[in-house]
Amino acid sequence: MTWSDGFGRSVFLGILLCLTFQGAHCQLVVSAAGPTRVKAIAGSDVTLAVSFSGAPDPAVTWFRGILPVVTWTIGSSTPPDIANREVLRIERTGSLTFVNVPLNYTGNYTIEMTKSGLGKAETKFSLEVFENIRNVTLSMQPEFVREGTDQFTLQYSMLQGVVEQQMWFFSDREIKTSSHYSVEERRLVILRPNRDDTGRYTVLLTNPFSHVTVHMNVTVLYGPDEPILEARPAQPLYVSGDSLSLFCQAEGFPQPIAEWAFGGQTLSDSREGVLNLTNVQTSQGGVYTCTLLNEKTEEKRQESMILNVYEKPSGSPICSVQSVNGTTDLQYHCQWSGGTPQAQLSFPGLSNTSSGAGNFSLIVTASDTLNWKTVFCMADHPVEPNKCNVTAYSPMEFLPAVRTTVNSEGKIVVAIHCLSEASPEAVVSWFKGSGAVTSGTAYQISSDTTQLEIRDYNVSNFLLQSYTCTCRNPLGTQEREIQLRGPSISDSSLFPNQDGTVITLTWEVPPTSVVTGFDIQMKGPDLLSENRNGTQTRGTSNKYRTIQKKPGSARSTDIFVLDPDLTYRFRVIPKALMTEGEPSEVQRIGPGEGLSGPAIAGIAAGIPCSLLFLFLLGGLIYLCVYCNKNKSRQTRYPVSRAVEKVITTQPDTTPHNLLTGGLKSPPDYNRLQQTPSERSVALPTFVPPPPARVATTV
Ligand SMILES: *[C@@H]1O[C@H](CO)[C@@H](O)[C@H](O)[C@H]1NC(C)=O
Ligand SMILES: *[C@@H]1O[C@H](CO)[C@@H](O)[C@H](O)[C@H]1NC(C)=O
Ligand SMILES: *[C@@H]1O[C@H](CO)[C@@H](O)[C@H](O)[C@H]1NC(C)=O
Ligand SMILES: *[C@@H]1O[C@H](CO)[C@@H](O)[C@H](O)[C@H]1NC(C)=O
Ligand SMILES: *[C@@H]1O[C@H](CO)[C@@H](O)[C@H](O)[C@H]1NC(C)=O
Ligand SMILES: *[C@@H]1O[C@H](CO)[C@@H](O)[C@H](O)[C@H]1NC(C)=O
Ligand SMILES: *[C@@H]1O[C@H](CO)[C@@H](O)[C@H](O)[C@H]1NC(C)=O
Repeated sequence: MTWSDGFGRSVFLGILLCLTFQGAHCQLVVSAAGPTRVKAIAGSDVTLAVSFSGAPDPAVTWFRGILPVVTWTIGSSTPPDIANREVLRIERTGSLTFVNVPLNYTGNYTIEMTKSGLGKAETKFSLEVFENIRNVTLSMQPEFVREGTDQFTLQYSMLQGVVEQQMWFFSDREIKTSSHYSVEERRLVILRPNRDDTGRYTVLLTNPFSHVTVHMNVTVLYGPDEPILEARPAQPLYVSGDSLSLFCQAEGFPQPIAEWAFGGQTLSDSREGVLNLTNVQTSQGGVYTCTLLNEKTEEKRQESMILNVYEKPSGSPICSVQSVNGTTDLQYHCQWSGGTPQAQLSFPGLSNTSSGAGNFSLIVTASDTLNWKTVFCMADHPVEPNKCNVTAYSPMEFLPAVRTTVNSEGKIVVAIHCLSEASPEAVVSWFKGSGAVTSGTAYQISSDTTQLEIRDYNVSNFLLQSYTCTCRNPLGTQEREIQLRGPSISDSSLFPNQDGTVITLTWEVPPTSVVTGFDIQMKGPDLLSENRNGTQTRGTSNKYRTIQKKPGSARSTDIFVLDPDLTYRFRVIPKALMTEGEPSEVQRIGPGEGLSGPAIAGIAAGIPCSLLFLFLLGGLIYLCVYCNKNKSRQTRYPVSRAVEKVITTQPDTTPHNLLTGGLKSPPDYNRLQQTPSERSVALPTFVPPPPARVATTV
């Protein structure tokens, strides 16, 4: 259809209509010949198409908004008045064509037609010019997002393009404006971001001609959170020498750096927060502090833990009890020092309220209930509890011991020992008669008070004295009286060897006797050993003569060489320096008894009687002597008695002794008086088994 054809037809139609409906009101009408909302891509040609009716050749004005851009009278030969001829062109129908439409021609367009007499008609169009969306970038404000801040913004920008619609996605879920998000023009605002907002954000931009999606990974920085501090292996306490690791961990992004410090010193610095401690010492116990740092946000957090490194005190607790000077109080003492921490000590049996660390004493008044009461000290230590016990008791019965020596000045020293077993140790006080003995020139009391030494040149000066020792502790006393005696022998025995050439002489001394030595005396023929020297003739001596001198500790001696066919007599003289005591009983060895003194006297008395009487008497005496000799020979080694004697005398190697004051079992003074070495010195070494003893004594 040509422009003139169309025009002519429409004018004709308009006139025809007006004529046909005569009397009807004839009106100018303009309407869109296509869509009124037009979308076009920039650079294309686009037409806002209209058609009109009601009048021929109306005047046309196109407005963009309120501004006229084209005016023309249709059919007129005057060219249209066009704002921009390069872009805009008006058709004969009044339609507006955009050539190579630029972006900025988007707008509301209105066509207005007028014809004089027929009024005015108009139609509105909207034109949207788009561009392909290209080179879109997403950016974030601020650069780093921290949890707890107010908000952050994602914003897109592009090199070119007109966006008809934007859509935001978080991990492929569409985001709508809510309390957490605000979708705004060209941007997305995330309110009060938290770590859960970390993830992939996508924006989808569309227009009718193109669409673009752009992603961005957003990380919300956070932490350090509340750290977890722990020691592994987990234990309430560690013993020195243990090995362990301290862990310090906290959530955060980026992973916080943990730093352990102890006593003001930094020990380790690692992302793992591990502090290895091997062979820990008690000095390493205490407060460990972990500091966590988020490098990006510079957020810091600190937390501390206590590491207990303990050490048991060495050894075991030691319990003891003492008396408090000058009182009747007992001091119970418990000690278990050292260790970390110190052990807590208490005597629950004595007091529920007091206790002490390491070293603890408790003073209580002595009473009978404490006598023989075992008191426990409870030693509380976190590594290992322990305990000890102590029993206090009054002094026990005891036997005083007397020992005599001679000192370098030549004085006799008599030491009396009163040792009573007691807990706490008994203090001994000494008395002579009724007066207290104190240390001086004559008396010396040992520092522990258990021994009194009496010194004098003359034994007689203190022989008659009676001494008393009193052993005392807060729980009781024990007292003993010691009556010293002069040198004396309480018992003696003689043991020959098998062939009768050697004898062993043994003797005992009363426990309180003061003896410094012994003289061994013999009467009878010379010993063969002496005879060999040729100094003495045989069988001449009828008096006792000293053949050996023994020290005060001796209790036996060996004598040899004897002639088994001869008779010897022995005795022991106890001595205190020059003072001699009573001799021991006489020990005889040898064949039959000779004529006794009384027998000789009888013979002398019978001289005046008849020869017959004398003869008879002589015969009788001979008979007697003969019988006696036989009897003696028979009983010389009486086996049964010898056995009996062995049984009774063998314990005598540690000789039995006297008993003072009401003890239940016979005490062994020699045990108290002699050291084992002293006793063993004099034991007969070669007495053959079985030892025999001469039955007959003089
Ligand atoms: C076009 O008109 C509509 C209402 O009819 C309005 O909403 C829109 O903003 C206008 N566009 C321009 C570019 O002026
Ligand atoms: C835009 O994107 C294209 C490819 O999509 C690229 O070749 C071009 O360099 C980009 N331009 C700019 C300014 O980034
Ligand atoms: C974002 O993270 C994903 C994995 O979650 C990864 O595949 C992608 O490459 C990342 N994109 C960018 C731009 O870093
Ligand atoms: C701590 O000890 C563990 C093994 O017990 C070891 O794997 C780790 O590397 C150690 N760490 C340090 C900091 O020495
Ligand atoms: C200490 O307490 C215990 C009970 O806890 C009680 O049996 C004991 O008699 C108390 N001992 C003393 C000395 O108070
Ligand atoms: C008291 O302690 C001793 C060790 O000193 C121990 O042998 C004894 O068994 C303890 N007594 C009691 C009753 O526990
Ligand atoms: C020993 O005592 C006697 C008398 O008892 C006396 O004659 C003698 O002088 C005294 N000896 C000494 C050393 O005192």
